[in-house]
Amino acid sequence: MTIEIKPLAGNLGAEIFGADVTNPDHFQTLLDAFSDHGVIAIRDQDITPEQQIEFAERFGPINVNRFFAHLPDHPEIALVLKEPDQTQAIGERWHTDHSYDEVPARCSMLYAIETPEAGGDTMFASMCAAFEGLSDGMKDTLRSMKAWHSSRHIFGEVRKTTDTAKTGRIGNSELATQDNLHPAVIRHPLSGRESLYVNPDFTVSFDTWNKEESDALLAYLYKHAVQPEYTCRVRWVPGTLTIWDNLATWHKAINDYAGHRRRMHRITVDGMPLAASRQAA
Ligand code: SIN
Repeated sequence: MTIEIKPLAGNLGAEIFGADVTNPDHFQTLLDAFSDHGVIAIRDQDITPEQQIEFAERFGPINVNRFFAHLPDHPEIALVLKEPDQTQAIGERWHTDHSYDEVPARCSMLYAIETPEAGGDTMFASMCAAFEGLSDGMKDTLRSMKAWHSSRHIFGEVRKTTDTAKTGRIGNSELATQDNLHPAVIRHPLSGRESLYVNPDFTVSFDTWNKEESDALLAYLYKHAVQPEYTCRVRWVPGTLTIWDNLATWHKAINDYAGHRRRMHRITVDGMPLAASRQAA
């Protein structure tokens, strides 16, 4: 069977048909598609947790998530679950996984086990396309800037009363101690493209800017970056395995399936130190 790659939108995302993630001969084609499209939804997989782990390890060492509940026998696989009576989905706000870490995650993959008949899609946005869409003046300003990212306000003590925490899907609030400074624009290690590296969930402020200034510029960038032209949407069915590039994209789980169950297995893969697009003067 030949592998077919069908773009999902103009700026990012592709669906892949006819691939088998357990077949080592298919890996290079999948890696190239991942690099070209930033998000790939590989359809029609039927894999065990061990096979998902083996596939993830081809991208790099697995990062065991500190905060997510995981499969009992497989700490490498985080459970992304929403039961019919639960109100909050994991990852509802636009974000980039683990940007609060000193060396943030390279990519993440979700494997769909159980999905609602309608709803529960995931949105993605291209931070390379969003950056390219800014004016030359704004690009230049951002190239010389850094931003603080933190896990505290998302996974720390303050979130203990949320539905995801109360239902045991997110925990270990005492481990939410990460605060790290990253370039606001990074040079992508595979494509060489510049990518806007701030996100609504984890970015706290621009370094050396006061809160008002920082909030105003971040609000502008967040509005700019989610214009439909920079996004794509993955519709899930059981057996779809989607991998996204955390250095080039944001994502957001759409919480529009109240009364239905959605169960996914997630693995996140370690990255490499981020390279600034241009060193600050
Ligand atoms: C996540 O943010 O990792 C979850 C995304 C999703 O469930 O669609």
